[in-house]
Amino acid sequence: MAESWLVRDATVEDAAACARIYEPYVRDTAVSFELEPPTPAQLADRIEAALARHAWLVLEDGGRVVGYAHGSTFNLRAAYDWSTSVSVYLEPGRRRTGAGRALYTALLDRLAARGYLTALAGVALPNEASVGLHTAMGFEPVGTYRRVGWKLGRWHDVARFQRPLGAGPSDDGTPPAPLT
Ligand SMILES: CC(C)(COP(=O)(O)OP(=O)(O)OC[C@H]1O[C@@H](n2cnc3c(N)ncnc32)[C@H](O)[C@@H]1OP(=O)(O)O)[C@@H](O)C(=O)NCCC(=O)NCCS
Repeated sequence: MAESWLVRDATVEDAAACARIYEPYVRDTAVSFELEPPTPAQLADRIEAALARHAWLVLEDGGRVVGYAHGSTFNLRAAYDWSTSVSVYLEPGRRRTGAGRALYTALLDRLAARGYLTALAGVALPNEASVGLHTAMGFEPVGTYRRVGWKLGRWHDVARFQRPLGAGPSDDGTPPAPLT
């Protein structure tokens, strides 16, 4: 990790920086299937919710927030309680410097420590960098939803990835609930 970098827990004060990073992906790409960029206030609510139940980390470079990664609810049905969605965004143009790996490494550690046993990610295709990152981080490709998202005038496939956290799920009795 570069000397000028710091990966830390987000606070709601980071909402504006995260909104700035996320906005171009919502507005100009199908990387996110949201259609309207969330406001900083909406991002603040998401950060608060993630800190309460999952994790939201930011990467600072020289004191400036340039990327973030977070966990979120995979599915509200109770049997999914040990599974978490994960996601990571860097400011456009910052590529292949190890920032994605640094954020994801810290995020997966944090989610494992909270008791989550499986991380899941969906990657709208094409997205070579995200497929590359998930593969490099030990995620297994487990299938592709075909033509499930309509954005920017065309249908997009979504590749699904999953990775065990900590010891991963086992059949030795009921696992302890994740910490909340
Ligand atoms: C996906 C993203 C977070 C990757 O971050 P990054 O800092 O560029 O990736 P890293 O430098 O940490 O790369 C880690 C590994 O991932 C793989 N990887 C990263 N970018 C890649 C690319 N363009 N093509 C192939 N593999 C790639 C490589 O294995 C790489 O290791 P290496 O450089 O030692 O070969 C970044 O490109 C990004 O923010 N993209 C836009 C938002 C996005 O797509 N988010 C994911 C939503 S599902």
